[in-house]
Amino acid sequence: MAEPQIGIYGLGTMGSALALNMAERGISIAVSNRTEDLIAAFEIRAEPFAGRVAVAADLPALIAALPRPRLLLAMIPSTKPIDDMLDEVMPLLDAGDTVIDAGNADFHDTRRRAARMEAAGMHFVGMGVSGGEEGARHGPSMMFGGSEESWQRLKPVLEAIAARFGEDVCVDRMGPDGAGHFVKTVHNGIEYADMQMIAEICDLLRFGAGLAPEAIADRFAAWNEGPLGSYLYEITAEVLRHDDPLGTGPMVDAILDSAGQKGTGRWTVIEAVRLGQSATMIEGAVAARAWSAEKALRGVAGDMFGAARDPVEIEPGALEAALLAARVLEYAQGFRILAAASEGYGWSLDFPRIAEIWRAGCIIRAKLLDEIAGAFRDGPPQGQLLLAPRFAETFAKGVPALRRLVAQGVAAGFPLPVLGASLSFWDTLRQPRGTAALIQAQRDFFGHHGFDRIDGKDSRHGPWWG
Ligand code: 6PG
Repeated sequence: MAEPQIGIYGLGTMGSALALNMAERGISIAVSNRTEDLIAAFEIRAEPFAGRVAVAADLPALIAALPRPRLLLAMIPSTKPIDDMLDEVMPLLDAGDTVIDAGNADFHDTRRRAARMEAAGMHFVGMGVSGGEEGARHGPSMMFGGSEESWQRLKPVLEAIAARFGEDVCVDRMGPDGAGHFVKTVHNGIEYADMQMIAEICDLLRFGAGLAPEAIADRFAAWNEGPLGSYLYEITAEVLRHDDPLGTGPMVDAILDSAGQKGTGRWTVIEAVRLGQSATMIEGAVAARAWSAEKALRGVAGDMFGAARDPVEIEPGALEAALLAARVLEYAQGFRILAAASEGYGWSLDFPRIAEIWRAGCIIRAKLLDEIAGAFRDGPPQGQLLLAPRFAETFAKGVPALRRLVAQGVAAGFPLPVLGASLSFWDTLRQPRGTAALIQAQRDFFGHHGFDRIDGKDSRHGPWWG
């Protein structure tokens, strides 16, 4: 058995998939898990790579098996278990060793943990890993946050297991401490918005235009071949084709309409607001999930106020253009949060590179990301994706279609928290003079807050008080 290059702690779905991916790519690993059952299950799956996999009974044994400077990757919940693990391992580690948290963590926790380990001369890496089990096993997209030294040490391992877009590897260093987990959080925020936008379109097509799930699946499959091509469109087409094995009809109709969330979408919104930004499409998606959980309330309200929705005449040809424009707006919102965080935390995030590493392996992988990377490489006016010349035609064609779609949907009584937000975002940003003059006047009236005048004259209060 060759000396292990890296230790992996946590052999649940994602940890074992990453470990097997490494072993398959010729990387020698040592693994362990808090409970024995998962170790035993992993040993069976790792049999083909026996010469490259060492199994340790517990965390101290795993650390003892690793050569210095050690690389220890943890795939356990990024909440208290990571802090507990650090309490346990830090006394056993040496200066120069690196611990990697590869789960979905709140980047504030990552920054705190990085500072803690740095004070002991060690490295803490917060790494976003996207792509679900399949991605982890065969090629995830990975967003690394940590010191340059730890990046150089981990790079060969990560590049070996990462997804590939042509010759390019879908992993890179985003910046120090929390940068990797922050970029992953925003990835998930975009994921939430894209999923909800798909759900809104399916709802309109099904109950507004009267299409059967199979017919909607055909639409998504066709769109997936064009500029909207993306993993989420591909799986939506697939999901809609399946019937319930219990024989009730389309599978999707048998599933409770209450969706869970683990936190990353919510964190995206919270951080956006904290940074003085907004991400209304992502907010719409997070809100939709929260409201989806209020099943009982929706039942009562439906009985009281009526749940009927009117038919919608959807122009099939215009939908693709509308959805593409909305998708660019969704990414634009995501990148605006990244820009705010990059400035706020001094990370110097590389936007084209982020778009590039999202082109394969991750859940939001989409053809559009190659265009987005190109748009950022060209340097769009004011650094804004929605001002990039290459998207001018997308908006010229797509926004009128989006406007008609949203107007029809809203008039017919369909809730469109994400599609509706996309249009308001667009319409707000294209208005040189917005609505805030009146807000300023109101603030001055009730709180003497003062305002700036458009002529720049030095008169900061209105004549409200006589
Ligand atoms: C990914 C996913 C993944 C996330 C799930 C569930 O990039 O592989 O984002 O990290 O855990 O999508 O997230 P929610 O439970 O919050 O929907």
